[in-house]
Amino acid sequence: MDHSELLATLAGIVGEAQVITAAHDIEPYVNDWRRMFGAPAICAVRPANTAEVSAVVRACAAARVAIVPQGGNTGLAGGGVPLGDAPQVVLSLARLNRIRDVDAVGLTMLVEAGVVLQEAQLAATDAGLLLPISFGAQGSARVGGVISTNAGGVNVLRYGMTRQSVLGLEVVLADGSVVDGLRRLHKDNAGYDWKQIFIGSEGTLGIVTAAVLRLVPKPTQRVTALLAVADPAAALALLARARVSLGDCITAFELISGKSLAIVADHIGRASPLAAAPWFVLIEASSSLAGLRDAVEEVLGAALEAEEATDGVLAESESQANDLWSLREHITDAEKAAGPSVKHDVSVPVADIPAFLEAAAAAVAAAHEGAWVNAFGHVGDGNIHFNVVIPPAMEPHAVNHTVHEIVAGFGGSISAEHGIGQYRTGELETYKSAPEKALQHLLKSALDPAGRLNPGKVLFASPKRS
Ligand code: MLT
Ligand code: ZN
Repeated sequence: MDHSELLATLAGIVGEAQVITAAHDIEPYVNDWRRMFGAPAICAVRPANTAEVSAVVRACAAARVAIVPQGGNTGLAGGGVPLGDAPQVVLSLARLNRIRDVDAVGLTMLVEAGVVLQEAQLAATDAGLLLPISFGAQGSARVGGVISTNAGGVNVLRYGMTRQSVLGLEVVLADGSVVDGLRRLHKDNAGYDWKQIFIGSEGTLGIVTAAVLRLVPKPTQRVTALLAVADPAAALALLARARVSLGDCITAFELISGKSLAIVADHIGRASPLAAAPWFVLIEASSSLAGLRDAVEEVLGAALEAEEATDGVLAESESQANDLWSLREHITDAEKAAGPSVKHDVSVPVADIPAFLEAAAAAVAAAHEGAWVNAFGHVGDGNIHFNVVIPPAMEPHAVNHTVHEIVAGFGGSISAEHGIGQYRTGELETYKSAPEKALQHLLKSALDPAGRLNPGKVLFASPKRS
């Protein structure tokens, strides 16, 4: 089909330089960073503000063309890149990149969708505050994508998912209309809390263009330690002990398999400061009250004595703490270098994590010879990345099925924090109940009746495009 008329209209809205069509230039917009997902698009279009986003949406609607909203394109489920089933335009939010204000009294910040998460974090830090959303891709993920996927990360057990940090939202709807809910309010019970529908809906119901985020006072002390533990049950015993003494000063509690740290050592050429062990825990505590380090030392000493931990190292400086974190944050890159992997971003009730890990590892070993497990995750909130690295010829869906059946047996979720994107639509169809699916389709058809916003993402079968 000839889309020259649409291309000319888009160029009229955003300027010719911001409508990208050349094969080389469009490549990073139409493929995800792991090169697992991608399909051609008519163009990538880069509006500079909400009014331009709205005009682009109207132009695409008039041309009956679908839109794939895109932030930093750091997702793991292919939600931000096209699927090959429709004429579509990638709408990049990258140029909506202003931090409009930081309110140190009201503990809020107003940011546009294209602001890189790390830049928003730094702006909060400059005001002595903390934006409590943190994960490996924060140097390139953009706020609109973080909100649209309700991203999780390493501090969820203390501060909750991204949803808990969003106070106000501005969205562009499928017909191009703009809904401005950019209120800097910590309490607002006036009617339906409609912004929740857009948070985590992966651009299938509307396009997030700006948000008011909730900030918290920045803790003045941070204590980080890496511990070796015999097994996941010991890690949970350690978590329970730490909770009694440190309460909600625990800001991260990550479980890492020995195998995960081994592939990181191969990949970055830097090993863990501890000897090899079956499992490790990376724990971080933060507080502005004096005495945090002594309290953490006391807990870890008691845990070693009780043999919940078998070895440990406490970071002596900010740079040592960062080194420990960088081992954790390189796991995904190391896994990518190790070969094709089948990801499982699952959650189960926290107490069931040891039984889940045992059952899932046994099932993979029994059914998929030659595959190996790279397990790690945010154990404090029940979220395990149970990734299976497979020989190139192995069929990935059978591996998914093996793991997700075990997850279902524990009443767990097949996507704890990465979302559904285009990667997990089939499984969502399998594991969600019929009434839940009907409700999701009801929302989709109410807000995007023509099925033009990010078609084929989240929901297995979107409404027919007209
Ligand atoms: C992480 O926690 O590092 C990512 O969410 C996990 C992944 O790459 O599977
Ligand atoms: Zn994660």
